[in-house]
Amino acid sequence: MEKTLSIVKPDGVKKNIIGEVITRFEKSGLRIAALRMLRLSKEDAKNFYIVHKERPFYDSLTDFMSEGPIAVMVVEGDNAISRVREIMGATNPKDAAPGTIRADFASDIEHNIVHGSDSPVSASFEIPFFFSSLDIN
Ligand code: RTP
Ligand code: MG
Repeated sequence: MEKTLSIVKPDGVKKNIIGEVITRFEKSGLRIAALRMLRLSKEDAKNFYIVHKERPFYDSLTDFMSEGPIAVMVVEGDNAISRVREIMGATNPKDAAPGTIRADFASDIEHNIVHGSDSPVSASFEIPFFFSSLDIN
């Protein structure tokens, strides 16, 4: 069993599709092991996306991620990391496969509804960023 961190970003919460995202994970056989809502400060968002600190979109990404509440969750299952990424679709909705969350709901490459850890190393940084071991069922 693998665990990954997923986020319904501020645009997804605004579009009222937290449930839609969770349903897609659950329908694929993945399980929600932890779940909560919060709002990141700009500083929190910068720390969470620290791997992107040299990228040109870092400032605008961290503005976006701190502009409103998000829903964060731990998703569990065999190959959860790659399965969540597959259900999400490519970063740019223009490149996302039909039927993926980003193809169906994202407005552009930045406002793309959902986050998923991209590797076991990322997941092991991102899960404890939001959850203590006591929160994970
Ligand atoms: P995420 O980390 O949020 O799951 O997304 P990802 O792996 O598909 O994409 P990544 O390269 O890690 O980028 C993180 C987030 O930054 C925003 N972004 N904006 N303006 C741009 O060119 C650009 N590129 C990326 C997106 O919100 C992306 O999900
Ligand atoms: Mg990423």
